[in-house]
Amino acid sequence: MTDAETSRAGAREKAADAETSRVDAREKVTGQARYGADHTPPGVAYAMPVVATVGKGRVTALDTTDAAAVPGVLLLLSHLDAPDIAPAGYIMADGYAFQSLQPLLDDHVAYRGQPIALVVADTLVAATEAAALVRATYETEPFAVELDADGTETVLQEEALPLPFLADVVVGDADGAYERSPLRVDAVYEAGPQHQVPMELIGGVAEWRGDTLVVHEGSQSVGALRGGLARQLGIAPENVEVVAPYVGGAFGQKNSLQPHLAPLAVAARRLGRPVKLVLPRAHTFHAASFRPVSRHRVRLGADRSGRLLAAIHEVDQQASRHDLLPATYTEITSRLYDIRNFRGRQRHVRTDAQTPGYMRAPFEHPAAFALESAVDELAHAAGRDPVELRLANDAGADPVTGKPFTSRHLAACLRRGAELFGWAGRSPDPGSMRAPDGATVGWGVAAGAYPVMTVPVLARLRAGADGGVRVEVGGHEMGQGITTALVRAVAGDLGIGAACVRAVVGDTRVVPHHLTAGAWGTNSSLLAVHAALRELRERLGVPPEGPVDVAAAVRASGVEEVVAEAVTQGPGQPPAAIDRMRAGLVAPAGPDYPGHVAFSFIAHFAEVRVDPAAPRVRVTRVVSVADCGRVASPVTADAQVRGAVVWGIGAALSEHSEVDPRYGGFVNADLADYVIPVNADVGRIEVDFIDEPDFTLNPTGVKTLGEVALVGVAPAIANAVFHATGRRPRRLPIRVEDLL
Ligand code: MOS
Repeated sequence: MTDAETSRAGAREKAADAETSRVDAREKVTGQARYGADHTPPGVAYAMPVVATVGKGRVTALDTTDAAAVPGVLLLLSHLDAPDIAPAGYIMADGYAFQSLQPLLDDHVAYRGQPIALVVADTLVAATEAAALVRATYETEPFAVELDADGTETVLQEEALPLPFLADVVVGDADGAYERSPLRVDAVYEAGPQHQVPMELIGGVAEWRGDTLVVHEGSQSVGALRGGLARQLGIAPENVEVVAPYVGGAFGQKNSLQPHLAPLAVAARRLGRPVKLVLPRAHTFHAASFRPVSRHRVRLGADRSGRLLAAIHEVDQQASRHDLLPATYTEITSRLYDIRNFRGRQRHVRTDAQTPGYMRAPFEHPAAFALESAVDELAHAAGRDPVELRLANDAGADPVTGKPFTSRHLAACLRRGAELFGWAGRSPDPGSMRAPDGATVGWGVAAGAYPVMTVPVLARLRAGADGGVRVEVGGHEMGQGITTALVRAVAGDLGIGAACVRAVVGDTRVVPHHLTAGAWGTNSSLLAVHAALRELRERLGVPPEGPVDVAAAVRASGVEEVVAEAVTQGPGQPPAAIDRMRAGLVAPAGPDYPGHVAFSFIAHFAEVRVDPAAPRVRVTRVVSVADCGRVASPVTADAQVRGAVVWGIGAALSEHSEVDPRYGGFVNADLADYVIPVNADVGRIEVDFIDEPDFTLNPTGVKTLGEVALVGVAPAIANAVFHATGRRPRRLPIRVEDLL
């Protein structure tokens, strides 16, 4: 990284506080960090699934003769020997699993790639060979894997999921105001299906120690794995231990129980041996959730100056046959600007796939692509600068509820971003800017928002006579930097060195865990740690603020260790939320809190260069300025935004899960064909933060960052492509053929 590429926040942090740059960096780069599948207990056996090769139907016969003859094969699990597994339930319907369907229990094939058997052998090679030799015969049924295919079924969310927070957002009279608007935009945008493809594959190790099942698996929700496996296997949750100190990326893919795990536990019990399963990359495209395709019709009405008078946002989102992923696309599109007449409508289109789910900024990224592209179209039609038009439409209070925002610095993000980017030098006409090599240059801007949610967290602090403090928290380290934020918070509060603080996360044996997702992990756990620190200071008999000699205070209290604990939850959340957290169920509060609504905001500025001969798009530069409240951990916050910009480049230009209507399933199920950006695709990235604490939200002043960082990157690039070429991209990813 050159000096120019180092963000201001990053440079500030590195100079001032090298010690807490990333507490797990050394363990990670020296290979000492142990991920789920790194666990290799003595006598471990290896599993490999057999997956369905038809789009839908029934398994009529399963020939396992050749598979069973492979030396080292120990067990073959399928619906034929009916493993005793109960459904775990769908995560969004008081369950634990990414979908309600548990394979291997009957002969039904709901989608291509669904597991139909599990082979266990002494070695991975034997398990893999045997799995390939299992021959299934099917009775096939017609299936649909695309939004417009015959045989899909469309349902209205309001009717199918009659919950208040999922009702269509309706403010004022959007249709009437739209019709009366002198300036109108009416366009359809589509964001294709995507997969999270974290580095760490899906899988883990299941091991019985007496009556206790011990699972090592990378997860965003060890509590859900514990609660779900207990339910599936009919055992007490106390008899399930789930350990995931590190997660090698997740992005929503590992936010719940996946169907491989209960069969793995059953196999381990039958064999009396630990069993390990690491799904091949191709399997991960069907073994867990993905970002569903979504189609957005956006209508914007404005006065001649571009002041927004009305917006209508209608969305169709892909669903499975067996579950509906609750959609909240309009949560941000209804309040990114001061739109007094808004109508949302969200529908689900049932297809024959596994249940789609959460992938970083699951609704907000596609929603912002649609809205922020439309806003750019409006700016062009109004003949106004797109930054200026956004500033002119900024909201004071929340237009949906009328409540104030806990904090809202979107205008500051836009202004600072424009300054850092040099936006004043933009020439407004499409195609009017050129690079020295003749490429057309485009500059685009887009804004993003993401709800600030808060979940129940238990935090425990253990202060030792040696002066060390151990912080045990319900949270998960997926690489986003939660442990760094926790260590900084404790070290900073007590005025001790970061080396004296150790954070323990991702372990059901230590504390109960809520799911870490929705960017609520760091803010929620910091809130609990803040409360536990107050408690610890009281127990140590030290003042509520200021540096503490931990060793002396512990020794003075006459014990080896002083322990303090606190449970916190979202403002206005009922206490029952804590019981749900303890049971491994989801219980987020917000963004609509008593008296306020809470969102994080961001502005992205992108520069693209487009070769006029073959219109290939290169992203040469991105500037992102985030309003995430107080920045809890500058180095990891900076890294979160950089990572999200790379994600946005992928979403804008290359990432797309391809479906083939003839066969079902996803066909580009590997990292050669599912094209994510490499270094050569990523230009200069500059990141900055408003860094204003939001004490109206909570005493730590921290909002959320990991998800908002992605929201708006893709439309900033798409808008830059329009500025370079005069062609309006209306689907993601933007392909060369869209620009010809
Ligand atoms: Mo995130 S997509 O909420 O894990």
